[in-house]
Amino acid sequence: MTADQMKRQAAEAIVPHLKTGMKLGLGTGSTARHFVDCVGELIRKGYNFTCVPTSEATKKQAESLNIPLTTLEKEPVLDLTVDGADEITPELHLIKGGGGAMLREKIVATSSKQMFVIADESKKVKQLGAFPLPVEIALFGSRATAMKIERLLINLKYQGSIGARMTKDNKLYITDNGNMIVDLKLGRIDDPVKLDAYLASIPGVMDTGLFINVARKAFIASPRGVEIISR
Ligand code: A5P
Repeated sequence: MTADQMKRQAAEAIVPHLKTGMKLGLGTGSTARHFVDCVGELIRKGYNFTCVPTSEATKKQAESLNIPLTTLEKEPVLDLTVDGADEITPELHLIKGGGGAMLREKIVATSSKQMFVIADESKKVKQLGAFPLPVEIALFGSRATAMKIERLLINLKYQGSIGARMTKDNKLYITDNGNMIVDLKLGRIDDPVKLDAYLASIPGVMDTGLFINVARKAFIASPRGVEIISR
């Protein structure tokens, strides 16, 4: 079974939880993409959903599937957001943002009554931090903000490096919100709650890829089936 087949299987496991009329948050990434396809198939069968996409890429995919879209301005409370993740702990703490969309993803997920994560088994970890932690920062003063982040990491006794995210053709990666991302290579994060709070308090930091106490359930697919972890 390929990773992509597992991603599809995790996305399909959400379908029994969907009821017509629901307001949905649509995640971003190669796993969430399968979920958006499932929503498109249900719409074709006559289901009625109103959806908020978490990125321009997801918006484009949803439009191509004729999924009715809205905004958080019009619908500030959603029923359910379904999204992928880069790392998932047994407590359902997550690292997200490998695809660069974590600011909108977090706003949408925390505006939903529930967030479900979908993933293949490679995303399961005992402890966060092997995956570089994405932090979205404003372009204005970005060098000064990055220095403050470096100083914080030293004060919190983290060893590792921080680097600006670049595109494949070596240009600065710019998010849908017009900001940049620094990726923190930490190896392990012992206290994600503390790290998230300290990072978020630095002026210029828009958000981090740490999702603490946001996900309610994870649907993790492997060749043995889909495991559901609840919080
Ligand atoms: C997008 O910004 C991310 O948060 C994704 O949800 C995460 O990187 C998982 O992506 P994949 O499903 O492509 O692994």
